[in-house]
Amino acid sequence: MDQTYNIQDDIDHILVTGEEIRQAVEKIGKQINQDYQGKQPVFICILKGASIFFADLVRQIQLPLSIDFMAISSYGKSTKTSGIVRILKDLDHDIQGKDVIVVEDIVDSGLTLTYIKKVLNQRGANSIRVATLLDKPERRQTELTVDYHGFVIPNEFVVGYGLDYNEMYRNYPEIGVLKPRVYDHEE
Ligand code: IMP
Ligand code: MG
Repeated sequence: MDQTYNIQDDIDHILVTGEEIRQAVEKIGKQINQDYQGKQPVFICILKGASIFFADLVRQIQLPLSIDFMAISSYGKSTKTSGIVRILKDLDHDIQGKDVIVVEDIVDSGLTLTYIKKVLNQRGANSIRVATLLDKPERRQTELTVDYHGFVIPNEFVVGYGLDYNEMYRNYPEIGVLKPRVYDHEE
């Protein structure tokens, strides 16, 4: 391991700062606190990208909530059209009759969340809402209602605050765009 490793060296520019994220998470938390008064929602974290947003968000919530985790993977290129994803790790608990808030890092085409919502609906959730830190509406391929979002961003590939490129950069505390040379090894 290179001792002079500095994650910042790979970042071309920052799109959303850690401070802006902190404020947005607080705002989303306030909205959810109001909207779910008297309820006991289940917060579902979509691993791994949403993990950092999720950890910060649930700590803004003053409700008797529970948390659960789901990991999914796409079936490669075919998902881009079918939207079918594979569940790698399912929820631990039954969500029948529950008010569910699905927490995602970013909504891009919207296919992943459309599929997840369908599955949760089939399992008898009482209500399902989506909270995402980032939203790229330009890329949407389905009609998906995003109930809570932090930032609408342009069609650029971003990393940090949970979002990865080849599993790296999730620990970067801001949302940034990588330098083109980082992708140079790709064909
Ligand atoms: P969708 O089904 O196209 O909405 O896919 C959303 C998923 O794609 C997210 O949960 C991310 O894992 C991944 N993704 C989409 N855009 C980005 C990005 O800019 N950076 C990192 N991951 C992304
Ligand atoms: Mg993701």
